Amino acid sequence: MIYLNGDFMPIEEARIPVLDRGFIFGDGVYEVIPVYSRKPFRLAEHLLRLQHSLDGIRLSNPHSDKKWSELLEQIIAGNESDDQSLYLHVTRGVARREHAFPKGVMPTVFIMSNPLLAPPEELLATGVAAITANDNRWLRCDIKAISLLPNVLLRQMATDVGAIETVLLREGFMTEGAASNIFVIKEGILLAPPKNHLMLPGITYDVVLELAAANEIPHEVREVSEYEVRTAEEILLTSSTKEIMPITRLDDKPVGDGKPGTMFTLLHQLYQNYKSTVMRGNANVSAF
Ligand code: PDD
Repeated sequence: MIYLNGDFMPIEEARIPVLDRGFIFGDGVYEVIPVYSRKPFRLAEHLLRLQHSLDGIRLSNPHSDKKWSELLEQIIAGNESDDQSLYLHVTRGVARREHAFPKGVMPTVFIMSNPLLAPPEELLATGVAAITANDNRWLRCDIKAISLLPNVLLRQMATDVGAIETVLLREGFMTEGAASNIFVIKEGILLAPPKNHLMLPGITYDVVLELAAANEIPHEVREVSEYEVRTAEEILLTSSTKEIMPITRLDDKPVGDGKPGTMFTLLHQLYQNYKSTVMRGNANVSAF
């Protein structure tokens, strides 16, 4: 069951006009929210980031947080899996094709749910391969915009060579992945690039840094150079759908000893523990 502009329906019945500005211009923003045991994970944070994205494209929020929560609850209830990945999408609506914003047009609001599958244990045991590429996206990567053509092309470069992600480099520094945030471990320190206009402020990224702080794991938020990426002991990828995954090959060379490292094992365990405390109703990150 999906939600489209006020109605709930099976996805096969959902229709949008071809003049929707999402279709014509990619003029919209989105969110992906994980749901565990039918509870949305870090909902307030996702709705705050949605507001940031809407502000970034100068589109007013069609719903209050309360209304969003209610709609999401209904979608969760209308879908089978206990663990789901919610996709929310807001565009500037339907209007004659003209670049400048139309006046008096209702935004298009779409919500769907897919089953959320945890990364397979085999992949966590071996780690995954990634490649690097030049980050050729625009300078507002903090907006979760639906216009994802650069990300699509960058991710496909990885898929073409059997890798799962593309680590993006801009002017000698790492920004993020094509659809994930990236952490690097150097000399036992967890390094995270600072949140700015060059990357999406990941919700999972925040959780990882909170867990690191609460558990006294050495960590630094600062620019990470290409050299540090290429000589890292470990590289980690994070996203709402992939949680935390170890990257053990980069550009066809082993990362560190080519196996998931101790930082991955620790953070993965802390993340799983944190998820289960959240499901029991306690949202605060604490030490384990
Ligand atoms: N992508 N950076 C980019 C470019 C992303 O697309 C994503 C997530 C992230 C990680 O953010 P979070 O931890 O909040 O999921 C970072 C989603 C999952 C997607 O587009 O499907």
